[in-house]
Amino acid sequence: MRRWSAPKVRVSGPSPSRTCAVTRACRKYSVQAQQQRLLPTQHGEPTNPVPPPPNAQPNPNRPDPYKLLAPQLEHLRQTLLNLLGSAHPGLSEIAKYYFLHPSKQLRPLLVLLFSQATNGLGGGWHLKQWAAECEGAGGRTEELDRPLTRADVLNDFNPNMSDHTASFETSFTVRTPRPPRQPPLPPPEATSTHAPALTSPLCLLPTQVRLAQIVEMIHVASLLHDDVIDKSPLRRGVASAPAAFGNKLSVLAGDFLLGRTSAALSRLGDNEVVELIASVIANLVEGEILQLKSVHGEELGLKGAPSATEDYFNIYLQKTYMKTASLMAKGVRAAVVLGGCREGEVWKEVAYAYGRNLGIAFQLVDDILDYESGEAALGKPGGADLKLGLATGPALFAWEEHPDMGHLIKRKFSQDGDVELARDLVRRSSGVERTRDLALRHADKAREVLAMLPDSDAKGALEVLTERVVKRTW
Ligand code: FPP
Ligand code: MG
Repeated sequence: MRRWSAPKVRVSGPSPSRTCAVTRACRKYSVQAQQQRLLPTQHGEPTNPVPPPPNAQPNPNRPDPYKLLAPQLEHLRQTLLNLLGSAHPGLSEIAKYYFLHPSKQLRPLLVLLFSQATNGLGGGWHLKQWAAECEGAGGRTEELDRPLTRADVLNDFNPNMSDHTASFETSFTVRTPRPPRQPPLPPPEATSTHAPALTSPLCLLPTQVRLAQIVEMIHVASLLHDDVIDKSPLRRGVASAPAAFGNKLSVLAGDFLLGRTSAALSRLGDNEVVELIASVIANLVEGEILQLKSVHGEELGLKGAPSATEDYFNIYLQKTYMKTASLMAKGVRAAVVLGGCREGEVWKEVAYAYGRNLGIAFQLVDDILDYESGEAALGKPGGADLKLGLATGPALFAWEEHPDMGHLIKRKFSQDGDVELARDLVRRSSGVERTRDLALRHADKAREVLAMLPDSDAKGALEVLTERVVKRTW
C-alpha cells in the first residue's frame, strides 16, 4: 500500500491594500443591532491590520473560546428553538430533541469566532454594517424573521398562528397586493473603499448569528438521518431520536429542519452564502453515500467500490471532508462573506483553509476515539465504526503493517471475531499514532493560516480550538 501524505493547503496572497479610510456617519441604530454590537468580548484595541508572516508565533495569552462567546452561544441556542415551531407539535418536539441536550456547539462557535476575527477587514464591510444597523435595510434581526411572502401562503395551516392561516373551508381569495417597500439607499461612505481594520470592539452581525444557527440546524438534521442509517441507540449518552421516536419521524424531522434552514438561509439575502451552504448539504449526502458504498455498495446497487488499496485511503479522506469538514469550511467562509469580504481578498481563503483543516483533524480524532475510549468520550459504545463495517484511519494505517487487515476490511469485519481481531491488529500497529500525526498536521495547518489575520481575542480563541480538537479538552 502506497504511503499517504497530507494534502498541501495553498492560500493565495494578502489582499491588495486599500487607499482611503471611511469615517462612519452618525446614524440611528436599531435596538437589535445595538444589542448585537454591545456584546463586547474584546479587551484592548485590535492591532496589526496587515497580515503577519506565516511563521508568526501564537499569542500565549489566548482566551477560552467558549468563555469568550458564552452569552452569544446561549442566546443562539434559545432563539434557535423559535425557528422550529410547527403546526404539528410532535414534529417540533423531535426537531428540537437534539437541541435540548447539552452539546459543544462547535460549528456555531466557529462561525461566530471567524466573524469576529474578520469583521471590518473586507471591502464590503461598511455596506454590511450599514445594512445591519439601518432600519429597513433588511439586515436587522427582526427583519431576518419577517416572512418574504404573505403569512397565510407561508403558514398554510398552523393552529398556533390562526391569524396567519387561511381557512380551508372557503376557497382561497386574491388580495390586492401592497406595493413593495423600497429599502433606503445606502449612504455613499458605506459603498466606498476603506483601509482593512478589525472593528473595535469586535462585533457580530445579525446575519452571522443566524448563519451560526443555520449551520447547527443542518448538522442536527444530518444527525437525525445518520442515526437512522447507523441504527444508533444512543446519541450523546441518551436515547437517539430513532430510538425515542422511530425511524420515520426522525427522517421527517431532519427534512423539516432542512426546510426551516432553507427559508432562514434565503432570508440572509446573499446568493453566494446560499450556494455555499446548499453545497454543504449536497456534500453531507455525498459523504454518507461514499461511506455506505464502502460497506453496502453491492446490496444497494451503488457502483464503483474501491479497487486499489490506496483508493481506500483517498476515499476515506474524501468522505471525511464531505461528512465533517465541509460544513465547518464552508460555514466559516460564508460567515466571512456575510461580513463583506469580497473576491480577490484573502479572508475567504483563510476561512475555508482553516475550517477544512480543522474539520478533517476533528474527524480523524473522532475516529481514533472510537478505538481508544469509546463511550466516555463519544457518548456511544466504542468500536462502533468497525461494527458498522467501516475502516477508518487507524485500521487503514494498520493495514500497511499487517496485510491480514486487508481481508478484514474487504469483508467489512463481518465474520465472528473480525471486530476483535481488527482492534488487536490496530493495537499492535502504529495506526492510532499515525492517524493522530495526520490530525496534528491538519490542526497545525489550520493554526498556521490564522497567522494571516490581525491579532484579536477571536483569533486567539480560534488558535486554541486547533489544539482542543486534537486534545479533546473542551
Ligand atoms: C455523523 O457521522 C454523520 C454525519 C457527520 C453526516 C451524516 C449525513 C447524512 C446522513 C446525509 C443526510 C444529510 C442531511 C443534511 C439530511 P458518524 O456516524 O461518523 O458519527 P456519530 O458517531 O456521531 O454518529
Ligand atoms: Mg452515526
